[in-house]
Amino acid sequence: MILVTGGAGFIGANFVLDWLASNRGPVVNLDKLTYAGNLENLAALKDDPRHIFVRGDIGDAALIEKLLQQYQPRAIVNFAAESHVDRSIHGPEDFVQTNVLGTFHLLEAVRAYWSGLAEEQRAAFRFLHVSTDEVYGSLGPNDAAFTETTPYAPNSPYSASKAASDHLVRAYHHTYGLPVLTTNCSNNYGSYQFPEKLIPLIILNALNGKPLPIYGDGLNVRDWLYVGDHCSAIRAVLEQGRVGETYNIGGCNEMANIDVVKTVCALLDELKPATQPYAALIIYVKDRAGHDRRYAIDARKIESELKWRPSETFETGIRKTVQWYLENQSWVAHVVSGEYQGWLAKNYGGGRT
Ligand code: NAD
Ligand code: TYD
Repeated sequence: MILVTGGAGFIGANFVLDWLASNRGPVVNLDKLTYAGNLENLAALKDDPRHIFVRGDIGDAALIEKLLQQYQPRAIVNFAAESHVDRSIHGPEDFVQTNVLGTFHLLEAVRAYWSGLAEEQRAAFRFLHVSTDEVYGSLGPNDAAFTETTPYAPNSPYSASKAASDHLVRAYHHTYGLPVLTTNCSNNYGSYQFPEKLIPLIILNALNGKPLPIYGDGLNVRDWLYVGDHCSAIRAVLEQGRVGETYNIGGCNEMANIDVVKTVCALLDELKPATQPYAALIIYVKDRAGHDRRYAIDARKIESELKWRPSETFETGIRKTVQWYLENQSWVAHVVSGEYQGWLAKNYGGGRT
């Protein structure tokens, strides 16, 4: 048994689906079901007794204590977070609440549970904290990629709150001996990603004939990784990672935003041709405040220690992703109703340049 938090979100749901598909044992899935959490992501597990879904907050220590006592998990994988940079700019408080205080309360409950385990179970227990490359800040064009020893320099309320959570996790190992692992991954894309993030936003806007908003000059660089490869990396770290260590995970695939958007447009031109090329919908809009210029991951540690490598290239992964959104229109229709419309108005309403 493992306990996954945030397993109704984009990466967490992919992780839970992959975990159960490969028969690694049952999962308790704790998720608050914020706007980003969606039980439809887990619809395939509706009648699967190996998946126990609990709606709740990682900040609810009493609930966590109860779940830990009831299910006695051998590991926790902590995905739960507020995850979108633009939302953190509009409203940072939720980020501090969940990413910092939530992680703190979760750690406290886990520490109490772990302290009471028998010697052998204590040694085998793992707390894996899923984090981001954004904690390292922004790179210049010729800077070396982030390694595990790059100093933290978070620039957005999102990355600052994730950095704080990483530090708490580190401190619980150093001070209390909690057997923790931390992963810092680059930008993910794939199925079930909420369409506030660049790639699904572009796919859905294009299909609806709406403008494709590029922040600033479109030359900000991200290192894109297919979500299934992130999940395989987390499994590798959970199973073989050295306790107390952090592992950077990346796709070795740096791309400027404008090139990502043009690639998506070209795929849509091929798979769902419209009367004009989709790239005609591209517009440049006001830049994001404090927009980090470039992220790049040096993944040599996980590659050499744990023999992990991505199995998808950007070409294969983005094709699968675009196809998934084309084939899952009812998922899309449910996701984009309600709160999502309010978000679009708030973030893009008056922002064109
Ligand atoms: P997401 O926003 O799609 O999902 C987050 C999930 O956490 C949702 O299901 C939400 O309901 C849940 N949640 C939020 N607050 C909660 C709380 N207080 N208690 C319990 N559940 C709560 O995010 P994602 O993109 O799947 O990211 C998952 C994790 O991976 C995050 O920790 C994020 O920082 C990290 N990460 C994401 C990326 C990326 O590109 N998306 C890259 C690197 C790391
Ligand atoms: P995003 O998917 O929000 O991830 P992150 O900010 O965590 O990297 O954004 C990826 C890049 O795309 C980032 O440089 C901001 C940019 N972007 C746009 O140009 N337009 C958009 O509408 C969005 C959402 C993002």
